[in-house]
Amino acid sequence: MNNLEYLEKYLPKNKLKKGLKQLEKGLPTQYIVGNVSFYGYIIKVNKNVLIPRFETEELVENTLKYINKYFKGNPTVLDIGTGSGCISIALKKENNNLDITATDISKKALKVAKNNAKLNNVDIRFINTNLYEGVNNKFDIIISNPPYISYDEKIMDIVYNNEPHLALFADNKGLYFYEEILKNIHKIINEKYLIAFEIGEKQANDIKNIINKYLPNSNIIVKKDMQNRDRMIFIHNFE
Ligand SMILES: C[S@@+](CC[C@H](N)C(=O)[O-])C[C@H]1O[C@@H](n2cnc3c(N)ncnc32)[C@H](O)[C@@H]1O
Repeated sequence: MNNLEYLEKYLPKNKLKKGLKQLEKGLPTQYIVGNVSFYGYIIKVNKNVLIPRFETEELVENTLKYINKYFKGNPTVLDIGTGSGCISIALKKENNNLDITATDISKKALKVAKNNAKLNNVDIRFINTNLYEGVNNKFDIIISNPPYISYDEKIMDIVYNNEPHLALFADNKGLYFYEEILKNIHKIINEKYLIAFEIGEKQANDIKNIINKYLPNSNIIVKKDMQNRDRMIFIHNFE
């Protein structure tokens, strides 16, 4: 479906004219329509949150497989950098036993996430903080799609010009947040843990090195997305 068809499909007729003008100005169709389908659930989006991506649905799908196989009862989950709330909401909709906490440094993003949780009728604890600062609980599962684009990487204009840079870019060749999250992760993970990260397609080896530094005895599994790119990494200490 091209952009025009997308708008015709998802915008009410009386908003189409305005929508087409916004499209001409270079706004992403998802912001024009104001919502996307993520894992089959409606997630509202605006310029304060990253537009949820297909790869992230794959991160959710694989994480759910691990959770359903290896965790019983009411596993606790921490979603770091929740943005629109899409990951937490999809996880909770798919597995109502999960006890989910989600953080973001952006108050404006959290407002969107809270609204999305309400619209999807799920209960998630949202915290406005830097990564997991001040979060004193321990979790069975940590999941994150952190900003991971290097500042010198050329990205599409439509992304650069519209989506929040706070959600996109990271220092140290895009690796900054993986290291920051893993540095003190031992303080917030339970004895048996699963950590799930979305990653940039060329980052797997560098991230493996960071993991080996902070969680030397863990199992590391890199998974490819549907386009055969290394886009997810799972770290756990079972099996
Ligand atoms: C790549 S976006 C992911 C958003 C959403 N989880 C998704 O998958 O669509 C990264 C998110 O991390 C947040 N973020 C950036 N720096 C942060 C920090 N220091 N602490 C917490 N969240 C942060 C951004 O505001 C953004 O919402």
